Amino acid sequence: MALIAIVGGVLFMFCLCSALLKWNKVWYVNKNKGLPHGTMGWPLFGETTEFLKQGPNFMKNKRARYGSFFKTHMFGSPTIVSMDGEMNRYILMNESKGLVPGYPKAMVDILGECTIAAVHGSTHKYLRGAMLSVISPTMIRDQLLPTLDRFTRSYLSNWDNQVIDIQQKTKEMALLASLHQIINKESIRIKDRITPEYFKLFLGTLSLPIPLPGTNYSRAFQSRKVIASIISEVIEERRKSQETHKDMLAGLMGNDECRYNLSDEQIIDLVITVMFSSYETISSTAMMAIKYLHDHPNALQQFRDEHLAIRQRKKPDEPIDFNDIKSMKFTRAVIFETLRLATIISGLFRKTSEDMELNGYLIPKGWKIYVYLREINYDPSLYPEPLKFNPWRWLEKNLESNNQFLIFGGGIKFCPGKELGIIEISTFLHYLVTRYRWEEVGGDTVLIFPTVQAPNGLHIRVSSY
Ligand code: HEM
Repeated sequence: MALIAIVGGVLFMFCLCSALLKWNKVWYVNKNKGLPHGTMGWPLFGETTEFLKQGPNFMKNKRARYGSFFKTHMFGSPTIVSMDGEMNRYILMNESKGLVPGYPKAMVDILGECTIAAVHGSTHKYLRGAMLSVISPTMIRDQLLPTLDRFTRSYLSNWDNQVIDIQQKTKEMALLASLHQIINKESIRIKDRITPEYFKLFLGTLSLPIPLPGTNYSRAFQSRKVIASIISEVIEERRKSQETHKDMLAGLMGNDECRYNLSDEQIIDLVITVMFSSYETISSTAMMAIKYLHDHPNALQQFRDEHLAIRQRKKPDEPIDFNDIKSMKFTRAVIFETLRLATIISGLFRKTSEDMELNGYLIPKGWKIYVYLREINYDPSLYPEPLKFNPWRWLEKNLESNNQFLIFGGGIKFCPGKELGIIEISTFLHYLVTRYRWEEVGGDTVLIFPTVQAPNGLHIRVSSY
């Protein structure tokens, strides 16, 4: 009797699993003819778990079976994955043909409905214009770089003779550096209130949008409210006072540099978006550059020489300026090689705003398109010996202007903070390498999927140079 019950139970589970696995296929595929090959996984979850567990191998296996343009179901949506370089570029360049931003719901909810990352058309053009006006080359040269230099110099003081977790430090540095640039004078006063809330907000953007108490999503939503009210307070205080400010917030609130008329809600969402966009990208790139330089003494030597040469032309406490940044050719190459090899950004999300033909297939309205970038970074025809850390390759060929260079995106959403980001990382590395040497303590693991991270931190022993 027990045996019959067990066999019956197994059979029931088998039938249930098969029915559930067929459900997504029936639901999405049978009513949409002309889709690319691929599988849809489980209802609601699709193949998200497999993707997160197997990482890049998930993509490689799929490509081996279905080619570089296939269908799946991830993060709650039917999705087309594109791994083809030319196609990826086409998708990013053609928002006007209905390939609009398609970031996950949790991220958009938390960053705010006016976030530049999610809007398109004329609203996007307007908000992007406002953002570009506060991070223009003139703003960087006259306001942001001096602020950044002051902050970094003080942040990197007293690291001598310490074992530090460079992952934790680069994360903190990225957040505080952007806070200083956005809200300069008040940042000292508000940073202790904003920092813990920001970390909760960041976690929530990567979660499932479940609005129940205790979920990362709900906590992030609360944190967003706290951060928004702190920024509101600062805006109100500034309006009441006669004091002038030289930072991004002053530009967004409307001064000589910015001719945009933004609502407080738009200003707050832009501020939160800048903090979010620069945080993970800058901290992970800085951490991985420190690791790669540590592991490649020749590169470290050339890197240090470049920075010591700058210091030699200056008085001991003289800040670095725009011309110094321009002269950091090898540093720029190290940053690009780090972004490539660690693939700090694995992919970008778009969605179809109407039924459309793409790559010879019919893609229904509302499907997500995941523009997968990792494989292009390891393409041997572009980057010979792709798994090798070789910053010199960026000096030999003009790889930065190659059509397949999508590390900062492409089309009308191309990263507006590219140069500012490079400057932030260069400034941090400048003061690190001219003041200190470092050794890895050892034993820490670094993962580069789904995000670049050292699960237990990346510990280095620092001594003065
Ligand atoms: C190494 C550093 C950085 C990397 C690798 C990077 C990468 C990218 C990429 C790939 C995109 C395109 C997203 C898409 O197409 O959906 C993007 C967009 C964006 N980035 Fe960056 N970014 C960096 C630094 C920064 C910084 C410092 C800022 C701060 C101003 C910033 C602000 C933005 C914004 C606001 C967008 C959205 C632009 C739009 O929707 O028009 N990024 N970034």
